[in-house]
Amino acid sequence: EAIEKGGYEHFMLKEIYEQPHAIKDTFRGRLRADQGLIRMAGIDQNLERFLNANRIIIVACGTSWHAGLVAEYIFEDLARIPVEVEYASEFRYRNPVISDKDVLIAISQSGETADTLAAIKLAKERGAFVFGVCNVVGSSIARETHAGAYTHAGPEIGVASTKAFTTQITVLTLMALKLAKASGTLSESRLHEMLSELEGIPAKVEKALESNALIEIISDVYKDSTNCLYLGRGYNFPVALEGALKLKEISYIHAEGYPAAEMKHGPIALIDEQMPVIVIATRRGHYEKVVSNIQEIKSRKGKIIAIVTEGDEQVRDLADHVIEVPESSESLSPLLTTIPLQLLSYHIAVMRGCNVDQPRNLAKSVTVE
Ligand code: G6P
Repeated sequence: EAIEKGGYEHFMLKEIYEQPHAIKDTFRGRLRADQGLIRMAGIDQNLERFLNANRIIIVACGTSWHAGLVAEYIFEDLARIPVEVEYASEFRYRNPVISDKDVLIAISQSGETADTLAAIKLAKERGAFVFGVCNVVGSSIARETHAGAYTHAGPEIGVASTKAFTTQITVLTLMALKLAKASGTLSESRLHEMLSELEGIPAKVEKALESNALIEIISDVYKDSTNCLYLGRGYNFPVALEGALKLKEISYIHAEGYPAAEMKHGPIALIDEQMPVIVIATRRGHYEKVVSNIQEIKSRKGKIIAIVTEGDEQVRDLADHVIEVPESSESLSPLLTTIPLQLLSYHIAVMRGCNVDQPRNLAKSVTVE
């Protein structure tokens, strides 16, 4: 097992560090930024189904559901296709309205999650076209779907999903850009810009990983917290949910993710000097609005850990701690802002003596209801 961990103390840490490489593997054979091309056979062969779709319904569970929420922003923003994201378990039991004009995308690392598989079967019965985004090649979901795209992240052993999440977002971004190109919703020049930016993401993830030592120091300050709040807006709202899920899963600290603007409708009541609030405040997006949310937290004495864009000055003056990520467009920022949140939960869990790779009560793949 020590050999399999490749010198890392836990699989989770190894898998966090594998992300630059895993994202490159997701691009392999697909992305030709210099030619403005994305090759994905599963989309090419079914292009009309996607372009004529009434809407895309995304079903998934857990971390994969969070990737689906990021995809909702990506598909609507770039490809202008309406998207709904559903927990597979809810979708299958609520007699959903589905037609043969709908495209269902099922996202699953393992490809074996029982609820996601059942949602696929239901959508197929009702005539929808079903596309799978899986990591495990030849898995049940990969076999049950009409077409699909693998994430090629390599085996993920840690129960808390890390590289599967960022590679799912990568595949979904490639899909959205490919559809945007086909339907003309993005100009050629914007498309080229986005493709070359995407190609540069692995190097930026590498850079984001350099904050590891700082995150370890911050983790030591907050390791005994009993609650934690994660805030983000736009593309980074689902990242806040995922950050909170990671902390809950492996450190057993109660954590909640919230859209920053919703704070005033409830969570603000929880804020006092005991409450660490992790805020994603990168420069593109809704920066000024997030800054005012940070001011609200500060005036209630909450402890602020902010994820900011390199060189940020304004948030640095307000926050107790800042963790920098490289500059990027808002639509690619989840691939970067996720990294420090993974490392934060990892270090806190290790410091609390938790079994990081196999947290209590959780399974890597949930094949029962
Ligand atoms: C379990 C795992 C999670 C995962 C979820 C969905 O709860 O512990 O890490 O996100 O299942 O799994 P899937 O394989 O369908 O992505």
